[in-house]
Amino acid sequence: MSDPAQSMQAALFERFGERLDIDAKLPGLDELARIAAHRVQRRYQPRGVAPDLLRLLCACALSAPSKSDLQQADILIVREKSTIGTIADLLTEMPWVRQAPVFLVFLANGRRLPVISQLRGKPFPNDHLDLFFNATVDAAIVLATFLRSAEAAGLGCCPISVIRDHASVISKLLELPSKVIPVAGMCVGWPEEEGGISPRLSLETTVHEERYAEGDLGQQIDSYDRRRAASRPYRNQREPERFGVASFYGWSEDKARQYATPLRADFGDFVRAKGFYLD
Ligand SMILES: Cc1cc2nc3c(=O)[nH]c(=O)nc-3n(C[C@H](O)[C@H](O)[C@H](O)COP(=O)(O)O)c2cc1C
Repeated sequence: MSDPAQSMQAALFERFGERLDIDAKLPGLDELARIAAHRVQRRYQPRGVAPDLLRLLCACALSAPSKSDLQQADILIVREKSTIGTIADLLTEMPWVRQAPVFLVFLANGRRLPVISQLRGKPFPNDHLDLFFNATVDAAIVLATFLRSAEAAGLGCCPISVIRDHASVISKLLELPSKVIPVAGMCVGWPEEEGGISPRLSLETTVHEERYAEGDLGQQIDSYDRRRAASRPYRNQREPERFGVASFYGWSEDKARQYATPLRADFGDFVRAKGFYLD
C-alpha cells in the first residue's frame, strides 16, 4: 500500500484498533504516515552510520522545543566498540546493544544553568526538583525527536532506559559531571528487518476530551489485552514459578508481573548523589 493516507490508516488500525478518518489532501501526510508506522528496531546491519549523518540527526533532534529556551539536554555519542562492549556487558539481556554500530546517551543537563548564573554573578535559588524535572523532560523530547529524525532517514533505533539500572557505572564510564545524568541510551543502526507495529491502549483510554475520564478501565484493559494478543502474543510468561502459568497471558498480566518487583529503587539515591535536589 503506497498511498500514505491508506498506509497510515492501516498502521493506526493495527496500533489502536480504530479506523481513523484521514483526509487524503492533508499536508504532511508522508511525515504523519512515518510517525504512525513507528517501530522500535533491535536488529541492525553491520554497516556503520556515517558521522556526518549522525551529526545532522543530532542537530535535528536538538532543534526540538526546549523549556524556557534553557537547552538542558545533551547527546553523548558512543562509537568506540570497546565502550559499547562495556555497556553491553552490563545489559546481557539486551544483545542488540552490542550489535548497534552507534550507541547514544541522552543526558539531562542540570549543570549548565547554575554555571551560567555563576558566570554572570547571579544567585541561583532554583536548585530543587524542577531543575531535575525540566532537564529530564528536555532530554526526553530530544530523544523522541532524534528517533523521529533517524526513522525519516531510514535508520532504526531502540531507546535503552535499562542503562539506568547501572547509572553509577555508566556515569563513571562516560565521565558525567555533577548534575548531568543519563535519561536513556539509544541503539542506532540500519535495520536488518522491517519489524512490526506494537499495539497501544485504545484512544478511548489515553485521549481525554475537556476533562479526565477514566471510564471502565478494567474493561478497556481487557479488550486491549485481547486485541494485542491476537497480533502480538507474548512468547514467554514472566516468573511462572512465582505467579503460576496464566491460561491467558496479556499485556496487563505481563506489566503487573514486571512491576511486582522493585525496579531501580536506588535511582533517587543516584540522582541525589549527582547533585540534584529532589524536594
Ligand atoms: C524511554 C524509553 C526507554 C526504553 N528502554 C528500552 C530498553 O531498555 N530496552 C529495550 O529493548 N527497549 C526499550 N524501549 C523500547 C520500548 O520497549 C518500545 O518502545 C515499546 O515496546 C513499544 O514498541 P514500539 O516502540 O515499537 O512501538 C524503550 C523505549 C522508551 C521510549
